[in-house]
Amino acid sequence: DFMISKELDFAIRDIADFPKPGIIFKDITPILKDAKLCTAVIDEFVKQLEGIEIDVVAGIESRGFLFGLMLANRLQIPFVPIRKKGKLPFTTVEEPCELEYGSAILELHEDAIIPGQRVLIHDDLLATGGTVSAATRLVQKLDGVVAGYAFVISLDFLNANDKLKQVSQNIISLVSYK
Ligand code: PRP
Ligand code: MG
Repeated sequence: DFMISKELDFAIRDIADFPKPGIIFKDITPILKDAKLCTAVIDEFVKQLEGIEIDVVAGIESRGFLFGLMLANRLQIPFVPIRKKGKLPFTTVEEPCELEYGSAILELHEDAIIPGQRVLIHDDLLATGGTVSAATRLVQKLDGVVAGYAFVISLDFLNANDKLKQVSQNIISLVSYK
């Protein structure tokens, strides 16, 4: 929707050279301060997800927790956190991930997904796709099915979409930067 992407674009604050020189950080904290805009984000996700069967929302630490839980709660389905290694207390599966800046290992509780469940992977921002690719492998390790991806922001010039399309055609992003 054109209006919501305009509003989001207006709210998102660009921070140059954070956390490293050359990176323009997309700061979503102004969205979080605007309760009506947060509701509009969830409304728009729900609208664009219509007709897609989803059993679970998996949100990626840390910024993927913010809208991920809100969305899962609105849909009245489980939210499961994908976390950076060493944070989840129960037995986990893990996957390495290549990041825009640095690298990490992501984990998911082994009982987070029941085999066959359809999982929506959510993060605030799609950049290189390294993070959601690792999340995809975690879901698949537990025999979950990736039902789609939902992002607030996508950096389309990094072409991560092509990779994700091979997993699911359902890729939603509310504001994209070319
Ligand atoms: C950022 C962003 C995404 C990821 C996107 O997270 O929130 O999770 O990078 O990059 P990619 O598509 O190139 O993998 P970050 O690692 O900065 O951590 P945070 O969410 O905990 O702030
Ligand atoms: Mg993140």
